[in-house]
Amino acid sequence: MAETATLTFNGTTLELPIVTGTEGERAIDIRHLRNATGLITLDSGYGNTGATESSITFIDGEKGILRYRGYPIEQLAEHARFTEVAYLLMFGDLPTETQHTEFRRQLSENQFMHEALTHHFDGFPENAPPMAILSAMVSAAGCFEPALARADDDDHFLELAARLMSKVRTIASASYCKSIGHPINYPRSDLRYTANFLHMMFSLPFRPYEPHPVVVDALDKLLILHADHEQNCSTSTVRMVCSSRASMSAAVSAGINALWGPLHGGANAAVIDMLEKIRRSGESIKTYVERVKTDPNTKLMGFGHRVYKNFDPRAKIIKEACDSVLQKLGIQDPMLDMAMELEAVALQDDFFVERKLYPNVDFYSGIIMRAIGIPTNMFTVMFAIGRLPGWIAHWREVRMAAGGRIDRPRQVYQGPVARDFVPVENR
Ligand code: ACO
Repeated sequence: MAETATLTFNGTTLELPIVTGTEGERAIDIRHLRNATGLITLDSGYGNTGATESSITFIDGEKGILRYRGYPIEQLAEHARFTEVAYLLMFGDLPTETQHTEFRRQLSENQFMHEALTHHFDGFPENAPPMAILSAMVSAAGCFEPALARADDDDHFLELAARLMSKVRTIASASYCKSIGHPINYPRSDLRYTANFLHMMFSLPFRPYEPHPVVVDALDKLLILHADHEQNCSTSTVRMVCSSRASMSAAVSAGINALWGPLHGGANAAVIDMLEKIRRSGESIKTYVERVKTDPNTKLMGFGHRVYKNFDPRAKIIKEACDSVLQKLGIQDPMLDMAMELEAVALQDDFFVERKLYPNVDFYSGIIMRAIGIPTNMFTVMFAIGRLPGWIAHWREVRMAAGGRIDRPRQVYQGPVARDFVPVENR
């Protein structure tokens, strides 16, 4: 007999089915709860709410496990290219050589922005936040795309996904060039995805940028580590927008905005800001940590995670990559020393130990990005480029779900009870 959980309320007893995932996670299916009892569930912040069943990414926060479509993140970061991982997330399996070649061909073919789009950049003020530009431009790019996206047709979906993935990279680098008054670089078809991005960011008309292989590999790894993370804030946003049957670019543009905040993707830049502030103030790391403990408005940026309560496997990989990149490029970054000291102090402090607060992916990613020449205001944009295949995969999963309903949470209203309108002269 199928397992159930029993709920008794007001004399009514309800058997709620238990849903078990392929990795043994269990959930109580409360779909019929309101009809049967009039009750809804309340879970602010969604800490206990499974919004969906998904077959893209598995996380075990207690054990520090992260797998894309079953493959451990450690193996993918070590052996795969970002474009292979993107294909894996979107289609469910690693591509064969032929499939990978075709995907890369589509990425190259679709890397140009419509020329009319380049004029949009002139409308943004100087110093406009690159995440604002990215989200606006992705929305605008949607106007140039085929209106109807067919998620169920592999060839059509591949083209649609390649167009967006390729263009986001072109848009992101163009927004950087514009922000510093440099001419926009056109993409090159002879370079792989990451090298092409670096060329568009840093080439000048009189000095082409030749990326160091260590830098290209580090960027590949960084993007792979960010490629998906199941139902985080931005991905849930993408899924919710998609549930209304909005287009892929509309949903991704919303995801970019959700990622922007300092509690989510914006944390990578916030970590560097925090380290800079500590350095400039001359405050010791110990004093700063004490302040975090006593001031509720000061957080240790790059620490803590809703799901990981032991360690974030991505942080472990990034920390090692950071050491290796700095060493291979011969860079000495005092920020890395400060970050390591901060980590060591926090990990020995009861406040952080009791709350299970560990470095997350953003703690060291900023340092690696500094080492490969990415400016701080582009850090979260890099995260967005990495997360794109995940967002696209989730968009497709929602679109393909049989009979998928629009996402629409309920609430417990706590405002004023019914009252009559009072004319302005009587208020
Ligand atoms: N510094 C200090 N205290 C913290 C931190 C932190 N970074 N993170 C959590 N805490 C404390 C909370 O104040 C709370 O303390 P309390 O029990 O005394 O009230 C306790 O730890 C539990 O934290 P929650 O707020 O319940 O954790 P939640 O799951 O809601 O938030 C989050 C997770 C947003 C990541 C949080 O840890 C945080 O703000 N971290 C800093 C920002 C950051 O690094 N974000 C990147 C996350 S990874 C990503 O998005 C890619």
